[in-house]
Amino acid sequence: MSTGYPEVRLRRLRRTPALRRLVAQTSLRPADLVLPVFIKEGITEPRPIGSMPGVVQHTRDSLRKAAAEAAQAGVGGVIVFGVPAAKDGRGSAADDPAGISQLALSDLRAEAGDALVVMADLCLCEYTDHGHCGIVTPAGDVDNDATLERYAATAIAQAAAGAAVIAPSGMMDGQVGAIRAALDGAGYPDTAICAYSAKYASSFYGPFREAAEGAPRFGDRAGYQQDPANAEEALREVALDIAEGADMVMVKPALAYLDIIRRVADTVQLPVAAYQVSGEFAMVEAAAANGWLDRDRAIMETLTAIRRAGASVVLSYWATEVARHLR
Ligand code: PBG
Repeated sequence: MSTGYPEVRLRRLRRTPALRRLVAQTSLRPADLVLPVFIKEGITEPRPIGSMPGVVQHTRDSLRKAAAEAAQAGVGGVIVFGVPAAKDGRGSAADDPAGISQLALSDLRAEAGDALVVMADLCLCEYTDHGHCGIVTPAGDVDNDATLERYAATAIAQAAAGAAVIAPSGMMDGQVGAIRAALDGAGYPDTAICAYSAKYASSFYGPFREAAEGAPRFGDRAGYQQDPANAEEALREVALDIAEGADMVMVKPALAYLDIIRRVADTVQLPVAAYQVSGEFAMVEAAAANGWLDRDRAIMETLTAIRRAGASVVLSYWATEVARHLR
């Protein structure tokens, strides 16, 4: 053409894999990934989770092995969800020093604590018989401040067991401040907090509730988790958590909330984590099992999107597999 200007050809830099790799703006490293793991009390063999192909409820032995494999692959960390054999109204197993979660945390610290960041999810829903994330009042509400006391005790038990990072996921107001004060008061000033700051009341947690056996027996979590319609509120949650002492903040789920990840990442000066949750995993696995999409490409594409949106740390059930592939 004779416009006098060079012709615009964006395709020049897309021509070959080497060119595309050279100009790629978003990267994914094994160390960015955190593997969520489930440890179940009282089983002798790992137990598959029907809605999460390839994910299991671990025994202590199989968990150690999975952690060693993750470390070998260069994964950045693991986050532990405990599933106790017995549940009660106050979630007593959550802060039991001999509870399954604490045993798993100390196993992991011993097995792979130098190579992997050992993180503890802190919530009560896996430990309560009613399946809510806190203490339930006779009227059926979750009592915010009574729950904070349970979270504080649980954080201390998790830190004592060897967790390097505590990740409160219950969405109670003031939870980060309560946990920070408890950790400092108990002699764990170096234990970090990764706050699930912007955690939405999401349908995408469905498979997790099978894995963690923590579905609410009545009602739902909309009274404490965020409304999917709101964005500004996420920024308020994040700001409060930082003021209360969070060392990292998290957005969850990831794929349906990429706009929130971006806004948080543009606002804060600390690491932003995003959780690619069970439903995001199951959605891809189920479609791929039907031959409806290319599994491996969908995994890399979704993880890249989450990083592109601004997450520095990504929690994913595919962490070990992807880390191996990246090496
Ligand atoms: C518990 C908790 C949930 C998840 C992480 N921590 C479930 C929930 O809030 O119902 C979801 C993780 C996933 O779906 O992979 N508070």
